[in-house]
Amino acid sequence: MTVGLARARSSLHFVRIAQYRRLYSTRPPSLTLLGKEYPTDSTTNITDAIADKVGRNLYTDPAHPLGILHVLVSSHFHDFRSHVGLPPVVTPAQNFDDLGFPPDHPGRAPTDSYYLNRDAMLRTHTSAHEVETFARGERRWLLAADVYRRDEIDASHYPVFHQMEGARVFGADEAGRAEVEADNARLEHHLARSNIVIEDVPHISATNPRQEAHDPVMAELVAKNLKLSLNSLMLTLFGDRGGVNEGEPLRVRWIEAFFPFTTPSYEVEVFFRGKWLEILGCGVVQQRTLDRARVPDSISWAFGLGLERIAMILFSIPDIRLFWSQDPRFVSQFTAGQISTFKPYSKYPACYKDVSFWLPGSGLHDNDFCDLVRDTVGDLVQDVVLIDYFTHPKTNRRSKCYRINYCSMDRSLSNEEANAVHTQVIANLKDKFGVEIR
Ligand code: DAH
Repeated sequence: MTVGLARARSSLHFVRIAQYRRLYSTRPPSLTLLGKEYPTDSTTNITDAIADKVGRNLYTDPAHPLGILHVLVSSHFHDFRSHVGLPPVVTPAQNFDDLGFPPDHPGRAPTDSYYLNRDAMLRTHTSAHEVETFARGERRWLLAADVYRRDEIDASHYPVFHQMEGARVFGADEAGRAEVEADNARLEHHLARSNIVIEDVPHISATNPRQEAHDPVMAELVAKNLKLSLNSLMLTLFGDRGGVNEGEPLRVRWIEAFFPFTTPSYEVEVFFRGKWLEILGCGVVQQRTLDRARVPDSISWAFGLGLERIAMILFSIPDIRLFWSQDPRFVSQFTAGQISTFKPYSKYPACYKDVSFWLPGSGLHDNDFCDLVRDTVGDLVQDVVLIDYFTHPKTNRRSKCYRINYCSMDRSLSNEEANAVHTQVIANLKDKFGVEIR
């Protein structure tokens, strides 16, 4: 079975390289994604390896760790409307401008995000859907989706991952105030009886201010509701889970943060197996977002969390690539509705290969290098590390050396195979970026 999978994968690999050459040596006038055609331009940088992942929707499989976690969060917020399957192509306005990201924010750069063209990109976070969801008039909502970011390659970074976003809207009037007060009382009662210790920061402070447009009392109450709601979610996810905390109270800490689309803003961390882990970002939604969605006289909180991070902790999954594995030894270990501990079937040896080269005049971004490797070898790459970078004192030419760790998740990779894929990486590197191998 595994061998069959491996074969299928390597023949796919050659198709990929052929497509890659066609796509990138001379850019085609358009590309098609999810049945829709997009004209390409100089910002187009989506690779075949990424396009392959679009539409997989791993989180919708109830027996996949990401699906199990998705169901757990959705059932915690059982009276919130839950959205899935929103297509990943959004406009830069939806992903950035509508949320108040400044024009020079680094996340906008093609080195950090995937663009189909300058007007269409793969969302980098689920917050890209905030305005449209608020605009439907929903007062309590959740959404789960795949998100895409160009990044380094290692055991906890993958260019496609999954997030859930949630929000709750209250009326900025007496009825809204009564609603938030009642909900705060309910949640305080629940938390007071639970084994949890919370290290808090002030709901609102000079360094993490409320918004001008908000009534100070209502802003405090809504920030408090946000904290109580998410502390309660942390209990559902991490509290007394099969002896994981061994009777110890769950420790949660709140940290002041900054997001362009919320204020006050926070990050939540949980102490789990001896370490503080960052779990989510959240805050009181900028009024600008609600105004853009034409939701008048309201105040809202929102949060966004990454599913892989939490699932790797809860299920003890050591490598983020495993979420994409279709190997029965991975898939068959999980059951809908259950958090179980993953048992690694075997560790396959790592195979390190270095590549050193002189950079072209225009340079070469680490993320461009990583995408090239991923597009050439798929999930055979476990991590990539820049081990040397220097400028020649006389010629001023710059040199980089990357160490690539080739390691399959489901089988042993022979040295010949690793050499073959590495040779292909070098060929593509010369082809696409015109580097000079040293
Ligand atoms: N979108 C943020 C991210 O990807 C996470 C986030 C932060 C979402 C604050 C929110 C929020 O809704 O209020 O890092």
